[in-house]
Amino acid sequence: MSHEEFPTDGPAVVTCGLPYANGDLHIGHLRGYTAADAVNRSLKKLGQQSAYVCGSDMHGTPVALNSAKEGVSPEEYAMEYHEKYAETFPKFNVEFDNYGHTHDETNTEITREFVEKLEAAGYVYEDEILVAWDPEEDQPLPDRYVEGTCPYCGEQARGDECDEGCGRHLEPGEIEDPVSTLTGNPAEYREREHKYFAVSELADYLSEFLDRVEGTSNARNQPREWIEEGLKDWCITRDMDWGIDYPGEEDLVLYVWVDAPIEYVSSTKQYSERVGADEYDWEEVWGRDGGDGGEIVHVIGRDIIQHHTIFWPAMLHATDHAEPRSVCATGFVTIDGKGLSTSRNRAIWAEEYLDEGFHPDLLRYYLTTMGGFQQDLDFTWERFQERVNGELVGTVGNFVYRSMLFAARNFDGTPDADVSDEVRARIDDAVEQFEAAVRDYDVRNAGDAAVELAQFGNEYIQQHEPWQLEDGSDEQAQVIRDCLQVATAVAVLLEPTCPGKAETVWAQLGIDADVHAAETDAVHTEPGAFDEPDELFEKIEDDRVDELDAALEEKIAEATADDEDETEDPEMDESDLEPLIDERIDFDTFESLDIRVGRIESAEGVEGADKLVRLSVDIGVETRQIVAGLKQLHDVEELAGEKVIVLANLEKAELFGVESNGMVLAAGDQADLLTTKEDAEPGTKVL
Ligand code: MSP
Ligand code: ZN
Repeated sequence: MSHEEFPTDGPAVVTCGLPYANGDLHIGHLRGYTAADAVNRSLKKLGQQSAYVCGSDMHGTPVALNSAKEGVSPEEYAMEYHEKYAETFPKFNVEFDNYGHTHDETNTEITREFVEKLEAAGYVYEDEILVAWDPEEDQPLPDRYVEGTCPYCGEQARGDECDEGCGRHLEPGEIEDPVSTLTGNPAEYREREHKYFAVSELADYLSEFLDRVEGTSNARNQPREWIEEGLKDWCITRDMDWGIDYPGEEDLVLYVWVDAPIEYVSSTKQYSERVGADEYDWEEVWGRDGGDGGEIVHVIGRDIIQHHTIFWPAMLHATDHAEPRSVCATGFVTIDGKGLSTSRNRAIWAEEYLDEGFHPDLLRYYLTTMGGFQQDLDFTWERFQERVNGELVGTVGNFVYRSMLFAARNFDGTPDADVSDEVRARIDDAVEQFEAAVRDYDVRNAGDAAVELAQFGNEYIQQHEPWQLEDGSDEQAQVIRDCLQVATAVAVLLEPTCPGKAETVWAQLGIDADVHAAETDAVHTEPGAFDEPDELFEKIEDDRVDELDAALEEKIAEATADDEDETEDPEMDESDLEPLIDERIDFDTFESLDIRVGRIESAEGVEGADKLVRLSVDIGVETRQIVAGLKQLHDVEELAGEKVIVLANLEKAELFGVESNGMVLAAGDQADLLTTKEDAEPGTKVL
């Protein structure tokens, strides 16, 4: 790293936290990916050579556990998600120069090399340690195979991280009251040999590194505290099959957090090999050529600060690589103040957002400019609407559209006039604001520079009232010429946050150049001839938001119900049974319940709901549509033909927009369906 101001002579690389290939992408993931994409695009606007790389995180217990649940191999499982991600990112204009994965040859090879270098430099030692063990399955319980209490803050934690409390990484054996996630049994401890990386020896280096590193303050302050408390050495092996084998050890794989960040290097290498080292040299970036390295910028979520400011720089330093120039850690995206959850469907999914028909740039804009970078961002459709309708529709879209419409009608495009000094100066100010923000990795302020410039444009046009001036006059030409230059500049400065829309503006303005490749001096590009433009953004109506809100609320209610289910012990004993209700009902009350035998005619999942199925049930007198929470507990294909018991006179309800007319009775958490013992026909009353 050069420590010089951007743009520097060397190459930069921007990375973002690799997604675990074990579930669909949601808006929480997208916050980091869109922010990093905006940082990369912004650096290029400053004339900085920069590449944006990432890849899927294929290893580790999250993938091993989930693939086992699905009954497929971890490789097949992870590959499927990897391919899905690679398709999803471009849909959000998240443009990686290379998107690899941690299981590919490049990463396997470079990871081995890292480990061998660590060993050669004397940083690796072996130790006998106690690891959690499932007595019933007779197997070790690494990382997410075990849950328990965080020894630092007392919160519920996963085997290798205190994800709901203090956020610390936990070493094998550290978690208290460990319970196996495989069987729910209390875990035992067994002695095993493992490899350790002597991170504690690098405490002084890391303290200095933290004094130098740029980015967000949370990425410096937290690790400083951890160093002060005393660094522990880091166990870098696991008793598992899935992962990169530890060189020379058959039974051990590397801990996922060793090979995952190395993918940053591997992905850069793959990019470099594709374009040629003359154009972009990965060895220079990562300091493998003996130099100081390029500008390495890591964008991550705040949950993985420790890995990027302690373990990763320690690995880089101990293997003679360059160190990161900056670590920017975003706050978390939450819904209703609660963390998103892949397994619990508490999320807005990337594909779900696109299915709503919204342009990707709207979400990019919202995620990158809503609140401070380090702050958590509680997603609501209202606030999304507010930002879109206010700034994008009201300010940017409105200004660009009205200027261009006027220009097209009166001048067939750009009038023949010079841009006034006042407007030129205002545009230069906006560029300065943008550049200063980029040097601070402040994507929000960089976006603001564009929106404020559009706001200036709106005031300018309002003040000069070109509609009051004589059509086609020099004065009118002057005002419109100025406005079009502002529009041209707004597109350049908005490109990092809204690349798709920026491209549209330039195309509409008749500019025959690539706004993505344009640097900030392109704000003075002369627009051309053009016809009447289309509106740039569409307003989001209130009833649309109401609908989206209702669907989201329903989803959260389901997720909350799931949470409650999950707190229950999987092994039910008598004390877990609900107490009897003392209050008696009379026979009439019972008779008022219309309970009948039914037969399921057809069943299909309700779109967007992870538990619900829409059933068509023959209850003798008629066929009813009933929505039931059976999807995860039953094979939906097998339901047709099943005889069930239906409460026919329950109030109608609407679930996920689907009407449910009755209730199918079932027992317990697993929704064990009630039926008849013999051959009572559909419609028969239960008495
Ligand atoms: N695989 C690791 C990262 C390895 S980096 C060498 C991982 N994967 S993840 O899928 O859990 O998260 C991927 C990225 O998304 C991380 O940067 C993480 O911080 C970020 N986020 C995941 N959920 C998030 C929110 N709800 N909000 C904001 N960022 C979130 O961690
Ligand atoms: Zn904790």
